[in-house]
Amino acid sequence: MYSKIIGTGSYLPTKVVTNFDIEKLVETSHDWIVTRTGIVERHFAAKDEQASDMAVHASRRALEAAGIGADEIDLVIVATTTPDQIMPSTACILQDKLGIKKGAAFDVQAVCSGFIYALNTADLFVRTGQARNALVVGAEVLSRLLNWEDRTTCVLFGDGAGAVVLQGSDTPGILSARLHADGSHRSKLSVNGGICGGAVFGDPYIQMDGQAVFKFAVKVLSEVAEEVLAENKMTCADIDWLVPHQANIRIMEATTKKLGLSMDRVVVTVAHHGNTSAASIPLALDTAVRDGRIQPGQHILLEAVGGGFTWGAALLRW
Ligand code: ACO
Repeated sequence: MYSKIIGTGSYLPTKVVTNFDIEKLVETSHDWIVTRTGIVERHFAAKDEQASDMAVHASRRALEAAGIGADEIDLVIVATTTPDQIMPSTACILQDKLGIKKGAAFDVQAVCSGFIYALNTADLFVRTGQARNALVVGAEVLSRLLNWEDRTTCVLFGDGAGAVVLQGSDTPGILSARLHADGSHRSKLSVNGGICGGAVFGDPYIQMDGQAVFKFAVKVLSEVAEEVLAENKMTCADIDWLVPHQANIRIMEATTKKLGLSMDRVVVTVAHHGNTSAASIPLALDTAVRDGRIQPGQHILLEAVGGGFTWGAALLRW
């Protein structure tokens, strides 16, 4: 038994925030942001728009593409760093909003690697027969964690959601996936705050050692890509599309250079989405599926790195 993605969907909030808009808030420039990150604009959720609201839109589109009803879903996993509330999970809220009443529903918190973690988890559920149709979603409202007095982080992030429907199949599907974490790096990218006694304690904003993240990201993204390829006796030459986490165009360029892969085979959406953390891969995947770049029979490599640090990759036959 394998699992196969049979439908993708995504959603971006209507509000677009350009670099020129950000120039009015912090001391930065459109040119600096584009040169250092590749980001031109990002979307921000409305005040009353939660991760689950965006997840509903993305999920409905994925279900429609898959040609199945929400009532056929028996597993919901939401990867998010920005849940609607502390409890219940955003997956349970999404499950209810979609009218699903059976199967398991839970969140995965692996920051920007969250979608790869969630996809790998769902794949294992489907392969072992514990689920037949899984809805795997990445949904984030990172805009709520931005410190508008810290220009080194506030220019990077955006909001959005992406979803896939994973179904049991006799043929692959997901060929393999690998996950990693090293919590000793947890201070390099974090939101240190929490809630206690009705008040926020600690710093509730994203803080990051940008250069440390950059170096670590390039190293582990190339390593984990090679790990899953070797496991399947494949090389980068066999990959039709790399769909990486959309953190920064320079991280993508440095990683592909290390791998010896042309940027022509990389799906890049960071210019218009910014870094949407766990939502970035399913958003990019849906973009490339809908514009016809991704075709049946192709080999697709997904990979991500995020706070923790966590990192991982998944190799798919479409
Ligand atoms: N606008 C203008 N100037 C800025 C800005 C800004 N938004 N931010 C920093 N600067 C300035 C700095 O103050 C510094 O000025 P100085 O030379 O006078 O001291 C100068 O630009 C260079 O700063 P650096 O930090 O050295 O800039 P760097 O080239 O490393 O770029 C960046 C910073 C873009 C954050 C880079 O380190 C990076 O891409 N890191 C990866 C981080 C990332 O992608 N994080 C996303 C979350 S993690 C993930 O998703 C994998």
